[in-house]
Amino acid sequence: MSDTINTTKLRMLAVAGSLRQASLHRALLRSLQELAPSDVEIVMFDLKGMPIYDGDVEVQGMPDIVQAFHQEIEAADGVIWATPEYNGAMSGVIKNAVDWASRKKGLLAKKPTTVISGSPGSLGATKGQESLRASLNHLGMYVLARPSLAIPQLDKKLRDDHIIDESTQKFVRDWLQSFQDWIVQLNK
Ligand code: FNR
Repeated sequence: MSDTINTTKLRMLAVAGSLRQASLHRALLRSLQELAPSDVEIVMFDLKGMPIYDGDVEVQGMPDIVQAFHQEIEAADGVIWATPEYNGAMSGVIKNAVDWASRKKGLLAKKPTTVISGSPGSLGATKGQESLRASLNHLGMYVLARPSLAIPQLDKKLRDDHIIDESTQKFVRDWLQSFQDWIVQLNK
């Protein structure tokens, strides 16, 4: 956690666990800014190009993209992870990012964080979320417990990087407000 909170805008780093251009999770993260409180800035980090974790690579020096990821996490007041569910767990892309992030001592512990997910199906990737939450808790991150946000039929609720479903808009707005409150509380 940073010692002082940004007095102008609170900075949330948003990370999607899917690399494809048409990813619902990437679109979901792009839709957040317009629903965020006016004093919140949401910055996205693209995991495309991040290598699979390899201890031999690490000892030669952190790859540039991993160093950039570490810096963005450090600069953020809180981190939003958006993960699809693959075979009943978080995506490999997001787990790999968590693994690289965990290699910088002191970076993740006590950092406020939250998780969001969705699926074209009817459950919203709840199992993917649970497995990611377990890892983040294991690392000592301060994970927002409630509200949790797992959006079913996400493909029908997004259009051109906007959430078009009113009740989902409200859930997302409330969830962002709760995450902001969580960050502020933890920095008191
Ligand atoms: C999936 N999908 C999926 N969905 C789900 O609800 N539970 C699951 O266990 C899985 N498993 C799974 C495995 C693999 C390898 C793929 C490629 C997909 C479907 C998945 O939720 C859907 O493709 C999402 O749209 C993926 O997220 P993005 O890429 O749209 O962000």
